[in-house]
Amino acid sequence: MYQLIDGKRISQEIKDELKEKVAKQGLKRCLAVIKVGNDPASGVYVNNKKKACEYVGIQSLSYELAEETTEEELLKLIEELNTKEDVNGILVQLPLPSHIDEDKVLLAIDPTKDVDGFHPVSVGNLSIGRPGYVSCTPAGVIQLLKRSGIEIAGKECVVIGRSNIVGKPMSMLLLRENATVTICHSRTRDLKEVTKRADILVVAIGKPRFVDETFVKEGAVVIDVGIHRNENGKLCGDVDFDKVAPHTSAITPVPGGVGPMTIAMLMHNCVEGI
Ligand code: GUN
Repeated sequence: MYQLIDGKRISQEIKDELKEKVAKQGLKRCLAVIKVGNDPASGVYVNNKKKACEYVGIQSLSYELAEETTEEELLKLIEELNTKEDVNGILVQLPLPSHIDEDKVLLAIDPTKDVDGFHPVSVGNLSIGRPGYVSCTPAGVIQLLKRSGIEIAGKECVVIGRSNIVGKPMSMLLLRENATVTICHSRTRDLKEVTKRADILVVAIGKPRFVDETFVKEGAVVIDVGIHRNENGKLCGDVDFDKVAPHTSAITPVPGGVGPMTIAMLMHNCVEGI
């Protein structure tokens, strides 16, 4: 029987620990959340982030800007927030409208306030093992593993996906935990041959139910970072859970696995800083 890795419970545990710390130590934290345009999914994410701030005891400032906002206006707002002493975190919800250069915007955020961990300085610090903010979703995966009692050191870890937000930082974090790490992507020649080597398989490929049991070694741990809506409007991941789960020793469900961890780790970044 496999272990179901409960992201809902673990994310709640992390938020409760942070809430207690903020209250006990009287910490003053303030997160500025910027959203540009009317993307409905972004609206939901931003609201959930604001709610989590309230729960933990972090002040949040909300900037909901119109779709027509220019890059210059957005950069000016970020500059203002960079210099505001009482703001210790700045988050620009992605994606941005197509007339705005995302890289330029992320680069404008002061790395000491980069709670999303997307700034090149944060990414660079992670890759050379220096302190810095770490991207929330991969940081959440590490917490899921650790808090489920799954050893990482010395394990063969395979990450499917090489995005800047998940795949690359995920690999760096696993490496930092002393795993042997392989990154696979769309040009990997014999994907299954590689994924079947994994003791821990992290799937962040962005294709609904792409991974079935033929990708997985018997007894592996499988972490599913994907989230999609299927034909019937039901949420599913990159992994075909029903086919894969019986072959694993532990697996994350979708929903209720990696998803809730992203916001918990954002709260962690806001409270703990670098
Ligand atoms: N869009 C989707 N996920 C994220 C995230 O973690 N942070 C930000 N800023 N935007 C996102």
